[in-house]
Amino acid sequence: MAAGPKGVAVRPGAVHHPRLLDAAAQRALVEDLRAAASAAPFFTPRMPRSGKPFSVRMTNCGPLGWVSDVAGYRYQPHHPETGRPWPPIPAAALEVWHAVSGRPEPPEACLVNFYAPGARMGLHQDRDEETFDAPVVSVSLGDTAVFRIGGTSRNDPTTSLKLASGDVFVFGGEARLAFHGIDRVLAGSSTLLEKGGRLNLTLRRVTPPPVGASA
Ligand code: SIN
Ligand code: FE2
Repeated sequence: MAAGPKGVAVRPGAVHHPRLLDAAAQRALVEDLRAAASAAPFFTPRMPRSGKPFSVRMTNCGPLGWVSDVAGYRYQPHHPETGRPWPPIPAAALEVWHAVSGRPEPPEACLVNFYAPGARMGLHQDRDEETFDAPVVSVSLGDTAVFRIGGTSRNDPTTSLKLASGDVFVFGGEARLAFHGIDRVLAGSSTLLEKGGRLNLTLRRVTPPPVGASA
């Protein structure tokens, strides 16, 4: 298992960068997200067809945002409740993308998940994008999560690890379509968020970069 400034590869293409963001950077990013959420409030996504609510609440930043409701999973340029465009992706989140993604093109979507105590996320793949060339970059803030990652088949063996505040996780290469989920969030493990809980950002490329964009 490789370690060092390039992070720890927990599986091929799946790289954990513990505490890439220091405490000051974490606090600044939380402030940015607070401002974003006042423009684009957190909403409760629902499962396609059944309409069952997710336990996490969500919002987005960037030209495109991921939403889920009875009609299905999709990316759209506006908030499902306010109808307004999503706020821009915070500069500090773009910096993380450029530090770890290995891609010159910027992300188009930044999904922001909020896990209140007890929230979780079942094993799934991120595959609603039109391109899988760029990695998905995840940033964790607040309480530590017990994260699980497997292979590209639902029944592949999984590895569990903790994602703490300031950690960055990259799903690239053969891990781009890896199944992953959050089994639980460890209440009280961080003091970053006043009322506790966990924020997770996932930065994604949704469409292929324009033809002629430099690599
Ligand atoms: C996600 O898969 O959308 C979120 C993962 C996480 O919360 O770390
Ligand atoms: Fe995901």
